Amino acid sequence: MTDAPHRGTERFDLTGRTALVTGAARGLGRAFAVGLAEAGADLVLVDLPGAEGVTETIAAVEELGRRAWSYPQDLSRTGELADLVDTVRAERGPLHILVNNAGTAALERYNEITQESWHAVMRVNLDAVFFLSQRVAEHMTADRVTGRIITVTSKNALVAEAGLAHYNASKAAAQLLTETLAVELAPHGITANTLAPGMVDTPIDGDFPLDRDAFEAAYRERIPLGRYARPDECVGALLLLASDAGAYITGARLVVDGGVLADQMPRTRFMPPYRNTVRPE
Ligand SMILES: NC(=O)c1ccc[n+]([C@@H]2O[C@H](COP(=O)([O-])OP(=O)(O)OC[C@H]3O[C@@H](n4cnc5c(N)ncnc54)[C@H](O)[C@@H]3O)[C@@H](O)[C@H]2O)c1
Repeated sequence: MTDAPHRGTERFDLTGRTALVTGAARGLGRAFAVGLAEAGADLVLVDLPGAEGVTETIAAVEELGRRAWSYPQDLSRTGELADLVDTVRAERGPLHILVNNAGTAALERYNEITQESWHAVMRVNLDAVFFLSQRVAEHMTADRVTGRIITVTSKNALVAEAGLAHYNASKAAAQLLTETLAVELAPHGITANTLAPGMVDTPIDGDFPLDRDAFEAAYRERIPLGRYARPDECVGALLLLASDAGAYITGARLVVDGGVLADQMPRTRFMPPYRNTVRPE
């Protein structure tokens, strides 16, 4: 990264940088990998061993003329993450960008959550975020890279949602963890921020035991923009945080939720219809 001033979209140029994206086999992770490649970055892709979509993500990145390497890893095995990062650094050179995107969720009432299920969510959504960030930041510091750490949280880091006590808690904790990293890493020029999506059309909650059509219809009513996001609609926010454009943004959260958190109560639904005052019908 350079101290020279940039012009226009040059600020977002990631040519010559390498980004590690977790959960890159599908959903938001794939969209983030492709978006970073479009901006010029090479990609290190981490997902579960055997995760089918990784080859598709690699193909999409390579089609853009960028390089992509797969490092299969179960992130919940947190004791293995330092070795993973050391291997990636030795084989691919300095890491400039870390995107802690992998996440897991289960829909369970508070009294149904078992020890196993609680820890399964925490290990991926929180523990892995910490131990991966810890090692990557050490390498960024040793390599004198002005790195970028972006952790994907959720609107659920800020407002509760029933049936997701473990998920909500993991995402809220990831927010404060990120703020702490931001403070500790600032002297090295490394930034740490969160990207908090609202409802995104991905397979994450595919196994949730609920009436999906009815739930999605009800949820859409609560979203001021009136629809779920496509994964690629979160990419612009990521590129801001991952590039020189975001050099002075650290310890922040960037909410990409179609206005959900801005709307305390969908009052307009109960008001008279909107009438344009400039060109009345
Ligand atoms: N989809 C949404 O509506 C939404 C909303 C808010 C936040 N998020 C967050 O965005 C991130 C991405 O979500 P998504 O919707 O793309 O989910 P997804 O389920 O489509 O993809 C998650 C990816 O993470 C991988 N993963 C899960 N556990 C792993 C593990 N132990 N080791 C390695 N890889 C693992 C999965 O294999 C998968 O490829 C998550 O952190 C999620 O909490 C999603």
